[in-house]
Amino acid sequence: MELLEAIKSRRSVRAYKPDPVSEEVLTELLEVARWAPSATNTQPWEFFVLTGNALEDLNHATTANIREGMKPNPDIAALETPPKGPYATRQQKFFKQILDLVKPEEGTNKMQNWFEMSASNYNAPALIIIVADKSAPGWFIFDIGIVTQTIALAAQEYGLGTCILGDTAAYPDCVRRVTGIPESKRIIIGIAVGYPDWDDPLNSLQTGREPVEKLVTWCRTAETR
Ligand SMILES: Cc1cc2nc3c(=O)[nH]c(=O)nc-3n(C[C@H](O)[C@H](O)[C@H](O)COP(=O)(O)O)c2cc1C
Repeated sequence: MELLEAIKSRRSVRAYKPDPVSEEVLTELLEVARWAPSATNTQPWEFFVLTGNALEDLNHATTANIREGMKPNPDIAALETPPKGPYATRQQKFFKQILDLVKPEEGTNKMQNWFEMSASNYNAPALIIIVADKSAPGWFIFDIGIVTQTIALAAQEYGLGTCILGDTAAYPDCVRRVTGIPESKRIIIGIAVGYPDWDDPLNSLQTGREPVEKLVTWCRTAETR
């Protein structure tokens, strides 16, 4: 796949075929991803890869927490600054798009259904959890963002879809119990990985982007103005 096409056509995949992703393919994907750049090449990422029973155990534990009404308590301060202004408007638009595609289950509302699906990694056959040691240097969250997108882009070359999942990090205690990730490492983000089920309506969601003119300020010298 051409690079520009891969960047433009990547989108979050939220329904997967049950087919497993082999360890060989997952290893190759992470082999590629580790070439992501990082500040002064500090490479502040580590990957925990969950499949099979380990992933099922995590999904059960997370779902139980949500049903008991437990508040998310991620290792990073992601939930402490909710979107405001234009960010809130874009978030609301996204919520409407996704909730229109979620089927309500008895006794719950669509928002909770969606949270459960998302925190259960959309039942993808594989989940990559990216962690950073607490001693990681200041740019670590930026570096992890880059390696995350590198994984998402490279996955397409293997016919795989991905969904980047902040919700995987919502209940770090559950993740630690299943994976053995120590307290000395922050759980940053999950990436669901699997073969997309393109027939599932959840995968029909297409998000837009702001036009480039709204994002760019050209700072030209007086001569070129
Ligand atoms: C840091 C981060 C956290 C995200 N967390 C979730 C999540 O928990 N659940 C989910 O369904 N999507 C999640 N997403 C996916 C975004 O909703 C998605 O990237 C955005 O709506 C743009 O859509 P696209 O990926 O299809 O282009 C996350 C994306 C990022 C970058």
